[in-house]
Amino acid sequence: MFRLDNYIAIVTGASRGIGQGIVENLAEAGAHVVCVSRSFEAVKSVASELKSKGFKASFAACDIADFKAAADLVQSIVKDLGKIDILVNNAGITRDTLLMRMSEEDWDTVINTNLKGAFNTTKAVTRPMMRQRHGRIINISSVVGLTGNAGQTNYAASKAGLIGFTKATARELASRGITVNCIAPGFIETDMTAGLKPEIKEAMIAQIPLRRIGNSKDIATMVQFLASDAAGYITGQTYAVDGGMTM
Ligand SMILES: NC(=O)c1ccc[n+]([C@@H]2O[C@H](COP(=O)([O-])OP(=O)(O)OC[C@H]3O[C@@H](n4cnc5c(N)ncnc54)[C@H](OP(=O)(O)O)[C@@H]3O)[C@@H](O)[C@H]2O)c1
Repeated sequence: MFRLDNYIAIVTGASRGIGQGIVENLAEAGAHVVCVSRSFEAVKSVASELKSKGFKASFAACDIADFKAAADLVQSIVKDLGKIDILVNNAGITRDTLLMRMSEEDWDTVINTNLKGAFNTTKAVTRPMMRQRHGRIINISSVVGLTGNAGQTNYAASKAGLIGFTKATARELASRGITVNCIAPGFIETDMTAGLKPEIKEAMIAQIPLRRIGNSKDIATMVQFLASDAAGYITGQTYAVDGGMTM
């Protein structure tokens, strides 16, 4: 179901966690996945593992917060592979602290990666996608972008910003056959959440109606659907995949 044969997909933040789950799913569905993160060795190993299973994968090290690096990355992928059908803006970071203690650097680093990074890659894919009159852009936001969270003013602003960015981009690109949607994951088991104290985890699970922490497959399945032809009439939307947390 939701096959993606002959599609080329770029996934940022593919070296671990949710991004790794996304590339595994898209590759299993038949897409050629380009795995991107800052760490060369880590994305190389993710792409090599996929290739060893017979899937189509390549990789590139890139800091997506760097406007020129993101543009060069997209240009080289189009040159090598001929087109880009799917972009998943998944790379993201946290620098949590209360607003009173937050440094300008904490603010800028998070906004530059989580929000400006998505602008950089999306702007770069727009022209090739418009030319082919087809494209799927999927932004990974967070439930925190919907609800806010103490200690995460920078992160919440970046994730809420992604939702507005999604809607505005969707309106601009709809007439060219390009859809732009957003996923707001809840509490997902990855390195990002691994450091939380057991009592905090317990308290979070108590707020989840489905009573479990999510996994990267839960998010990857939604990405696969939104990337597929089956989702061709959906654009500008944000889907919470959160075990019912924000219902
Ligand atoms: N885990 C959760 O509970 C949760 C909940 C809601 C939303 N999310 C969102 O889901 C996404 C993935 O989260 P995760 O939990 O999988 O995080 P993670 O395990 O920390 O992985 C983050 C990924 O982003 C990459 N990355 C970070 N900065 C980058 C940059 N400047 N350029 C390119 N790649 C960069 C990292 O690789 P390098 O370090 O090698 O660059 C890594 O591959 C994030 O956007 C996060 O905000 C997560």
